[in-house]
Amino acid sequence: MMLISEKVDQFAHDTVKGLTSKTKYLLPKYFYNDRGSKIFQDIMGMPEYYLTNCEYDIFETKKQEIVAAISPGHSIFQLVELGAGDGLKSKLLLDAMMNQRQNFIYTPVDISKLALNELKSDLQKNLPDLKVKEYAGDFFTIMKNFAHENGIPRAVLFLGSNIGNFSNSETDLFFNLLSNMTHPGDKVLIGFDLKKSPITIMKAYDDKYGFSRDFNFNHLLRINDELGADFNTENFMHHVTYDPISGETKSYLISKKKNSVTLPLVDTEIRFEKWEPIFMELSRKYDTREIDSMASKYGFTVHAHFMDEKKYFTDCLWVKE
Ligand code: AVI
Repeated sequence: MMLISEKVDQFAHDTVKGLTSKTKYLLPKYFYNDRGSKIFQDIMGMPEYYLTNCEYDIFETKKQEIVAAISPGHSIFQLVELGAGDGLKSKLLLDAMMNQRQNFIYTPVDISKLALNELKSDLQKNLPDLKVKEYAGDFFTIMKNFAHENGIPRAVLFLGSNIGNFSNSETDLFFNLLSNMTHPGDKVLIGFDLKKSPITIMKAYDDKYGFSRDFNFNHLLRINDELGADFNTENFMHHVTYDPISGETKSYLISKKKNSVTLPLVDTEIRFEKWEPIFMELSRKYDTREIDSMASKYGFTVHAHFMDEKKYFTDCLWVKE
């Protein structure tokens, strides 16, 4: 278990490393402090952020098929959800599974203990017969531990296009760990946001309400709060690009003028040139060919693509070979 001070040290270490790199960057996992999580709720609530509605629509209309495809038949199984958050979408599946009298243990995994506690008490109220065994922490570490357990069949959920926020090396690590923690016949259901009109994508990530901008600014404010820094968000502008070939949607904060920021708690000064960017986040979009070849690269067979009506998003079901 990591102590609070170790967590702060890790944040300080990652922040200084990112801001002193040749091309400055910050890690997206630090978006989600309380204020950042609240802004992310605002993002998910905008009609322009189509991802939430699409995946909700898929679960709402196809839950029976999805449940039938996920469950291993009559035996008891473990349903692991990586990055469960508030579990809003998965509740639709859990409800359908309970109605079908499936015999399973729900194992939500999330970095936020608070989110897990809220999810657990919500489930206790709404699905009192559901067996829940939650894990709080970094899910790469938890996935490594799961690989050493050789128990009941497993189905793994990784929803909401969280996969799109990984760098190439994190994606590779993630799929290797996923492959190691599953056995032949085990299922995984992964949410991928699909390539689509750049206009639709830009409206979701560079919205007219300013939520996406504030989400990024909040990262700087978090550095001010936790590392005593003096970022002035007025010196920065939010900028988003979409590359239709790679599917990479990238968010930046760009310094509008030459300025410097001090981080006294870590004894560091960061200088910004005029128009110098900080790379904030990657939100990658895929096509089905890319998804299918990733499945086979890591030892899975694609069983089905569950898509919304507009074909904006797919929850893809893979079976371990
Ligand atoms: C959490 N993740 C899937 C979101 C995304 O779409 O990449 C995070 C986000 N960043 C800006 N808007 C939403």
